[in-house]
Amino acid sequence: MALPRERPRGRLRVGVLISGRGSNLEALIDAAADPAYPAEIVLVISNRPEAPGLAHAARAGIAHRTIAEPSREIFAAEADAALRQSGAELAALAGFMRILDNGFVAAWRDRLVNIHPSLLPAFPGLHPQRQALAAGVRFSGCTVHFVRAQVDSGPIIAQAAVPVHDDDDEARLAERILAAEHRLYPMAVRLFAEGRLCIRGDRVAISGAVPPEIALFNPAGG
Ligand code: GRF
Repeated sequence: MALPRERPRGRLRVGVLISGRGSNLEALIDAAADPAYPAEIVLVISNRPEAPGLAHAARAGIAHRTIAEPSREIFAAEADAALRQSGAELAALAGFMRILDNGFVAAWRDRLVNIHPSLLPAFPGLHPQRQALAAGVRFSGCTVHFVRAQVDSGPIIAQAAVPVHDDDDEARLAERILAAEHRLYPMAVRLFAEGRLCIRGDRVAISGAVPPEIALFNPAGG
């Protein structure tokens, strides 16, 4: 069943899917605590009952549930039904560690977003910070993108470039990227909620977007 294209007035209703810590969920909840923010979190789904992130939803009084179903198809059907029942207009993956069923991805096409801790298309999949260190890049970062069937692929909405330091290990780099994620995801959801995103093939045009004027150099001083 296709999702409705016209949206009611008011804040965009967002469902968030998590598997673990939920710090990006927390950043979205914090953003939505401001009544001027154009989106609200209406449902949190975890595929793991012990996900610490569920506590963020509970604390904020947001409906939350676990769907621990091992079958990919049944998980997708239950998640789809729960999201629709909640009135979610956008589904946001935030540290969601299961591969989603293709039917789910198709049903939520252009209404399903993900955050990944690298500058996609570089370093998709597991351990992107480790991959970045191994490749010797001087910048990595994070990406919010619309979800397509292939893992960590789809039209890119927003990215933050994060410098790699010579003494970084995986944990230090991940921490610096995570701080950027917590700003990037609320910003990307805001752009969606404001109706400013237009998907043209593999690219996203953003109305009123202001790109930075200057290049970043690492080492600085270039
Ligand atoms: C984040 O780095 C996110 O980009 C990746 O998984 C991590 C989840 O962290 N997909 P959290 O659960 O949001 O704290």
